[in-house]
Order: sequence, then structure tokens, then C-alpha cells
Amino acid sequence: MTEIPVIPDNAPFSTEQRLWLNGFLAGYFARLSLPATISSNPAPVTLGVPLLILFGSQTGTAEVLAKRIAKEAASRGFDPRVIDASKHRTIDWKAEATLFIVTSTYGDGDMPDNCQPFWDWLQTPEAKALAHLRFSVLALGDTSYTEFCAAGKKIDARLAQIGARPIFPRADCDVDYESSAKAWTEGALAAALKGGTNSADISANLLPVSSNGSSNGHATAVLESSPAEFSKGNPFPAPLLKNICLSKPGSSKEVRHYELSLEGSGLSYEAGDALGVVPLNCPEAVRDLLAALRCTGEESVSINETTLSLREAFTRHLDITKPSHELLAAIAQRAAASELPPLFGSERAADLKQWLWGRSIIDLLLLLPKPFSAGEFVKFLRKLAPRLYSISSSPKAHPGEVHLTVSAVRYQTHGRTRKGVASTFLADRVGDDDRVNVFVHSAHGFKPPANYDAPTIMVGPGTGIAPFRAFLEERQAGGARGKNWLFFGDQKRSADFLYEEQLIAWHKEGHLTRLDLAFSRDQQEKVYVQHRMLECAAELWSWLQDGAHFYVCGDASRMAKDVDAALHAVAQRAGGLPSDAADEFVRTLRDEKRYQRDVY
Ligand SMILES: Cc1cc2nc3c(=O)[nH]c(=O)nc-3n(C[C@H](O)[C@H](O)[C@H](O)COP(=O)(O)OP(=O)(O)OC[C@H]3O[C@@H](n4cnc5c(N)ncnc54)[C@H](O)[C@@H]3O)c2cc1C
Ligand SMILES: Cc1cc2nc3c(=O)[nH]c(=O)nc-3n(C[C@H](O)[C@H](O)[C@H](O)COP(=O)(O)O)c2cc1C
Repeated sequence: MTEIPVIPDNAPFSTEQRLWLNGFLAGYFARLSLPATISSNPAPVTLGVPLLILFGSQTGTAEVLAKRIAKEAASRGFDPRVIDASKHRTIDWKAEATLFIVTSTYGDGDMPDNCQPFWDWLQTPEAKALAHLRFSVLALGDTSYTEFCAAGKKIDARLAQIGARPIFPRADCDVDYESSAKAWTEGALAAALKGGTNSADISANLLPVSSNGSSNGHATAVLESSPAEFSKGNPFPAPLLKNICLSKPGSSKEVRHYELSLEGSGLSYEAGDALGVVPLNCPEAVRDLLAALRCTGEESVSINETTLSLREAFTRHLDITKPSHELLAAIAQRAAASELPPLFGSERAADLKQWLWGRSIIDLLLLLPKPFSAGEFVKFLRKLAPRLYSISSSPKAHPGEVHLTVSAVRYQTHGRTRKGVASTFLADRVGDDDRVNVFVHSAHGFKPPANYDAPTIMVGPGTGIAPFRAFLEERQAGGARGKNWLFFGDQKRSADFLYEEQLIAWHKEGHLTRLDLAFSRDQQEKVYVQHRMLECAAELWSWLQDGAHFYVCGDASRMAKDVDAALHAVAQRAGGLPSDAADEFVRTLRDEKRYQRDVY
């Protein structure tokens, strides 16, 4: 039997800390029966229970959350380490006991880019190295995707299949993830400390969190951000300085350039980061919804224990366009005679997705024989989520400002004119004296090369140009000597060449070493950026051999996949690599963070 260590009286702790640590060690070693020695010399003492937190993140949310969980864990007596999932090969798994995975889902139920190598490796026999682990998974996602939290679900199932022991049930979080993530953190940390599986059983060994969020003598609990700073929970009301339409007559799109002031906010950002915009819903959409519910808007409703008018709730707080799963279920149940109920089953998910395309909550309400009451209805709605936009300015070039490049979403379906919530809020409803609530969303995995001499290859058609304008401004302002190559494209050169003057000027002066353009509708056959890449495969390969960083931004559903395929093709055609070796080449680029994507 393991001897339970005791912190000696002369150890450098207060009496309170010593008593707590002795209690903690007694509980810990009694349960885990791990061998341990603690010397009276304080130097080598490891205070915390080791905890490995692996994150899979595309745009930084899961990464930030993993770090916040680590801080919380440290404040509770753990010794946490946060590791990027792509670095899984650097981990000595034998030395690990407890693993938390925090991952988002991308594409159509895919792993985020940095988690793909870990997932590939988990399929191999080598993954048996994880069989001894205790683990729990926090999955981030969005219920509006059919494959909700698929990455987290797959990893959870695979770890269990390998023989690792789940110590706390996986949490699947929707866009409004804070409270679920917090509950999971509480439960998973308690289970990790006890070796148990019971969610409600929070250990008496845990350091109590005081009312101001800090634990006795330890770091501050950080699951909620400080209200003193501007953040997602406390966005900054930024004055809108400019709203300029970049699309010219003849374009089928409406892409706008916005400039916002961050003066006095204390907010800072780096090229590659995104800006979160907290929109308001369109007054006409609110009006139509109230009419469908046969409400005036003056009805009182309660959201998160706050009472407010239904109009206010619809305008500021609730997603009134995309139906939640709960709303769909409730409507399917009540509109028995409509076409919805037969689609509402897991085996018809694809048909339901197709049926829902172009329909929003208002279309569904019109199926009901009798409307919901206001109080009943709001319970089915999701919180109005902020939208992210890739920042298109460098803070070095525009101190105190942040620029965005946003395509206004407008379309007609089922006899109605539809408007994207945030993109048309910016385009139509923010007046000269108005402010936009914003926060900075750091994209840790999407940055220009730290080495100013490294060449960059940037593929950014459409609004995908946004972060590359920022990269180019940043590298120019910083005096970077590395070469820059941009692939840009859209429909028509005469109407859709975003930032034409600036790009052409950069090209002329040599800051943009190469500018390759693909305007799909300027000739008979469609030409896209991936075609341009293949046309200059040899030079592209040579840049990659010279250490170029390869970036992609823009449409995730088609463009990013086609560009990825083109990159593999370049490695095969120009690099002479067989298919397997080309895959390995691209994987290595990604592992070395020389292949980064900001796709949506
Ligand atoms: C990291 C990141 C960076 C981004 N950067 C940018 C950027 O730089 N510029 C930019 O413009 N966007 C960017 N986006 C996308 C942006 O966040 C929003 O998703 C986009 O502006 C739409 O938001 P919205 O509120 O206007 O539309 P929403 O109200 O969210 O409506 C959009 C939805 O409408 C539906 N829809 C759209 N068109 C049609 C149609 N023709 N028929 C039927 N249904 C349709 C689709 O379901 C779509 O999801 C980025 C996204 C991410 C995640
Ligand atoms: C292009 C795109 C595709 C997405 N695909 C899915 C999906 O298939 N399933 C899901 O549950 N969530 C999906 N999401 C939502 C993200 O998982 C969610 O926003 C998450 O919080 C992002 O975390 P991250 O910033 O750490 O990557 C998608 C988001 C985007 C922008």
C-alpha cells in the first residue's frame, strides 16, 4: 500500500494551505494508490495532479477555452498542460494519466485542421498507447449543422474503443457554449480529482471558489471574463467610421468595406485575428415574426431570469431566423398534417437539411394551426450569436482602427426577401452616429510568418481577401523582406476586383511579388484560383521549397477543398511526389504551421 505523503510543517505554505494540501494528498493517494514521495526540501514538490488538455481548434475558440480550463484547473490544485492536438507526437503518453480533449467541429462534421493529424493517428494501432488514460471530451459546435459536434463525438467514441476510461460524460456545446462548458469543467475536474464518473459529485477536496471567483491562495477562476475589460461577454461599442461598397455596378454581390474605431477601448489585435460583431435583428423580421405569433411585441417574457418585452427579446437577444432542434421538434409535433413530421427523424437528416435550406423560423410558424404563446415560444429560441469577420487591416497601418470586408447576405426564397442578420445590420442599419458592439477574437492558428524573410502564398478569393490585406499591410509596415504571392478571384474583374487599386499598387511597387487573378465569368469556361495555382505549379513548388507559408481564406464548402486538392496536385506534378508522399508533404506543411486556413 502506498504511504500517504504529508506536507511537513516547515514547507513554504500557510497553515491553511498546508491543511488543504494534506487533505488533498490523502484523498488523492488513497484513491489512486499512486507511488509518491515528497521530500522535506520544497524545491521538487509537484503540487498539482497532472492533467493534459489537448485542443482542436480552427478559429481559436476551443484553444482559448482549453487555456481557461487549465487556469481553472490550476486554481483547483491541478498541474495542467495545454497542448495543440497537432503536437500529439511530442507527448510521452506513458507518463500521462488524465486527458481532457477540447475540440470544435469544422466543415461538415470534420476535425479542425490542427486536430486532423491526431485523429488520423488515433485510427492507427499506435493509438493503443492511450489505452491506460482516463479522459473526458468537451465538444464545441453549432446545432444548426447536421453533424453537430461530430469531431468531439468521434474522438470520444474512439478513445473509449481503444480502452481509455471516460471519467466524465462528454459535453456537446452549441454556439452559446459558456454555461455548458462551465458545467463540464466543474464536473470533469471533480471526476479527474476523484477518479470517479459522477457528474454531480464535486469533490470536497476541491479548492472552494470564492464569490469573487478566486480560490484560496491560488489563481483567479477565469471561466467568465472580467467585466472591466471589453470582451465577448462585454463587447465594445465601436463607432463606425466608414461603410464603403467595394462591389461595382454589374456585380451580383454587395461586398462592403467597414472601418471602425477602437479608440479608448483598450482592445488590440494582430493581423490574422477576427472581429466579433454583435448584431441586432432586422425590425421588419421582428415585425413579421410578431405578426405570425399574433403578438404586439409588448408582451413580457423572461430570458435568463430577466423580464423584458417580446420585441426587445426578438431584436437584441434571440436568434429569430435559424430554428433550434427543440423548435423543429415542437413544430413537427404540432403541425402533424404538414410536410415536416415525416422529415423529422435521424434517418432523414439530409432531407430535412435540404427542406430547411431557404426556410427560416417564420416559414415554420406558418405551418402551425395555432400559434405558440410568447412565453412558450421564446424557450425554443437560441441566443442571437455574434458573427466573426476576418480583420482586413493591420494595426500597424491603421492604429486605433479595425477594418472588415463583408459580403451582405440577401436572397429570395419561398416568396420572401431574406437578409443575413449581421451582414445587413452593418450594411443597412448602422447609421453615422451609431456604434457597433464588437470584440476581438484571436485566431491563434492563423498568423503571418513570424519570420519576416519567409515568403507567403495567400489564396483568398472573394471576401477571403480580408486577412491578406491585413497580412500585406502588416508586412509592409514591419519592413518584411519576404516575397508575397496572392491568388485572388471572383466573378467579374470589372465589378468584383476588391481592393483593386491597393493590390495593383502593391504589385507595381513589388510588395506583391506575384498577383494571380481568376475571374470566373470573364470568359466562356469557369476559371478559379485553384486553376491558377495549377498553371504555375512549378513556381509554387519552388516557393514552398524555399520555406513559403501557404494560406487559404474564404469559402469552406467548395473553394478550400479545391485549393487543398490543387496543393496536393502541385506536390505531385511539380514536386514529382507519388500520391502518398504528396499527402505526407501537405501534412507536414500543416504540422509545421506553414499551411493555415481561415475558412467559413
Ligand atoms: C472565422 C470567420 C471569419 C469570417 N470572415 C468573414 C469575412 O471576412 N467576410 C464575410 O463576409 N464573412 C465572413 N465570415 C462569415 C460571417 O461570419 C457570417 O457568417 C456571414 O456574414 C453571414 O452572416 P449573417 O448574419 O449576415 O447571415 P445569417 O443570418 O447568419 O444567414 C446566413 C445563412 O443564410 C442562409 N443563406 C445564405 N444565402 C442563401 C441562399 N442564397 N439561399 C438560401 N439560404 C441562404 C444560409 O443558411 C446561411 O448560413 C466569417 C466567418 C468566420 C467563422
Ligand atoms: C465553416 C464552418 C463549419 C462548421 N461545421 C460545423 C459542423 O459540421 N458541426 C458543428 O457542430 N459545428 C460546426 N461549426 C461550428 C464550430 O464548431 C463552432 O463555431 C466552434 O465554436 C468553433 O470553435 P473554434 O474557434 O475553436 O474552431 C462550423 C463552423 C464553421 C465556421
